[in-house]
Amino acid sequence: MYNSVDRNNPFEPNRPELDMAQLRELLRQQAQRRPLYENIAILGCGYVGSALADYWQERGHFVTGTTTSRERVASLSQLLSQVVVMKGSDASAVQSLVQGQDTVVVSVAPTGSQVADEATYETTYLATARNLVKALNQARVKQIIYLSSCSVYGDRQGEWVDENSPIFSSELRSQVLSEAEQILLQAAKDNQRVCILRLGGIYGPDRELVRMFGPLAGMTLPGRGERFINWIHRDDIVEAIEFARANELEGIYNLVDDSQLTVKEQVERVCFRYGLPPVHWDPKQPSWGRKSLRVSNQKLKAAGYQLVHPQLLI
Ligand SMILES: NC(=O)c1ccc[n+]([C@@H]2O[C@H](COP(=O)([O-])OP(=O)(O)OC[C@H]3O[C@@H](n4cnc5c(N)ncnc54)[C@H](OP(=O)(O)O)[C@@H]3O)[C@@H](O)[C@H]2O)c1
Repeated sequence: MYNSVDRNNPFEPNRPELDMAQLRELLRQQAQRRPLYENIAILGCGYVGSALADYWQERGHFVTGTTTSRERVASLSQLLSQVVVMKGSDASAVQSLVQGQDTVVVSVAPTGSQVADEATYETTYLATARNLVKALNQARVKQIIYLSSCSVYGDRQGEWVDENSPIFSSELRSQVLSEAEQILLQAAKDNQRVCILRLGGIYGPDRELVRMFGPLAGMTLPGRGERFINWIHRDDIVEAIEFARANELEGIYNLVDDSQLTVKEQVERVCFRYGLPPVHWDPKQPSWGRKSLRVSNQKLKAAGYQLVHPQLLI
């Protein structure tokens, strides 16, 4: 054993002399450092939001999550520090939700088994985005992470797109999503970052590809199955959101895996993996699908994110 003086520790009692400039610099850096545990709100604790709540809650953050349904409060209470029943169209509820939060994640989508009509889409995404922007004027939120969709790119007939590609979807639902992105991006300030993650189709536990493609086994489908569909596993959505939070990302990032397969290739893999009869394609009939595009994930990778599931889990 020997006595040593830690010259790097400004509070070391045996330190020969106290360098005030260095101490001031250390204290300044300390004050700027992000707290280990944050107050986080997740607006929309559905499939993704609940998994995210579980992830952050386990890591010690104080997580407040929302649902529109009283029936979900009991189950969400297991994953969240606090549950709020509210809709994004309720301006005062949004305002009280964001008070005292460091980070707000928006993960709303129209609820229900039916495909939502356009009016519901507008209320869900646009009213929420507008109320959030108003509420942010009176809050000290450091970062907003908004879950959008690669559907904003529209149909590109199999071409590649990246975050700089122009947006020109002919579908009203996709236009609503990109308008919501713009509303939030315009609210960005030096001390309030806005990060948009454009997700591919979401899959994962209870949303496995076999549930979607399995029922097609043995059928003859119209077209050639040449459309590209982009996917992202829920594990990657959770990890990428945490990556965006920890690295204070701002701006737009695509979030899709590396697989880049056509629907025919995806269906073939599912049928092969589960021993199901193959799907046949009839090129004489017009294909069902509306969109085909290949989405680049290079920007997020260049920022340092490593995919948990780069290839489709089948
Ligand atoms: N599904 C996909 O393949 C896909 C693809 C690309 C992007 N996205 C985006 O990814 C995000 C997460 O999707 P998900 O599959 O986790 O959605 P989800 O399971 O349908 O969950 C949506 C959540 O939003 C809540 N919600 C519904 N209407 C609302 C409103 N008007 N105001 C506030 N909250 C409302 C729901 O409340 P309840 O708890 O009451 O149900 C639910 O908690 C969404 O932003 C979605 O647009 C999804």
